[in-house]
Amino acid sequence: MTKIRIAVQKSGRLNEDSLAILKDCGISIDNGKDQLKATSRNFPLEVFYLRNGDIPQYLRDGVVDIAIIGENVLIEKGKDISIAERLNFSKCRVSLAIPKSVNYNSIKDFEGKKIATSYPNTVKEYLASKGVTADLHIINGSVEIAPNIGLAYGICDIVSSGSTLFKNNLKEVEVMLKSEAVLAVSPTISEERKELLKKIQFRIKSVLQARQ
Ligand code: PRP
Ligand code: MG
Repeated sequence: MTKIRIAVQKSGRLNEDSLAILKDCGISIDNGKDQLKATSRNFPLEVFYLRNGDIPQYLRDGVVDIAIIGENVLIEKGKDISIAERLNFSKCRVSLAIPKSVNYNSIKDFEGKKIATSYPNTVKEYLASKGVTADLHIINGSVEIAPNIGLAYGICDIVSSGSTLFKNNLKEVEVMLKSEAVLAVSPTISEERKELLKKIQFRIKSVLQARQ
C-alpha cells in the first residue's frame, strides 16, 4: 500500500506539538525517539524525523511528500514550497535585536553594521526593502551571545517568549515577520499521495476547529 511520507522536526520546539497534532488526527505513531523513521499503525503514513533546516530540500527532492515546519524556515530557504494548512502553534517572530544599553532610532542604525544570524536570506531581503546594507555574520545557533562577545552590533533570530533576548540583555527593535507551524507540500507529490494528503487535511481542519 502507498504511504504518505511526512517530515517532522527531529528535536526542538516543533517536535512535540507536531506529533501531538498527528495524534489528535487519530494517527498513531510508535515513537522510538532514536529512530529516524517510524510508521503509523492505523494510517498509511511514514514519519521522518529530520533537522528543520534540511526539510525544504527533502520536500523539493520529493524524498518526503509533506512536512510540519515553521513558516520562517520556508521563508528563509523554501519560498518555492507551498503551504497546505496553517497549524496555529509554534508561533514566533523573526526579529532584529540589539543590546539594551544601545539607543535605537530606526532601521538605518543597522547601516554598515555587523548582524549575527541563522536567517541570512530573510535579513538581506528585509534590509534591502529598507534600503539598508549590513554585514551578515552567519552562525547556526546561540546567536544571542554575539553582541555580548563583540562579534556583532545586533542579531536577527526567532523570538518566542522573549526570554533568550532578556537573558542576554538584548531588546527587540524590529519585527521582520511573524511565523507559525505550517503543513508544507512537496512540489512533486504524486496523485495517489495527494488523496492521502486530503484525508489528513480534512482531519487537521477539524482538530484545529475543535481546539478553538
Ligand atoms: C531559539 C531561537 C532563540 C530562542 C527564542 O533557540 O534561536 O534563541 O529559541 O525563544 P524565546 O524567545 O522563547 O527565548 P533554541 O533554543 O531553539 O536554540 P538554538 O538557537 O541554539 O538553535
Ligand atoms: Mg537560539
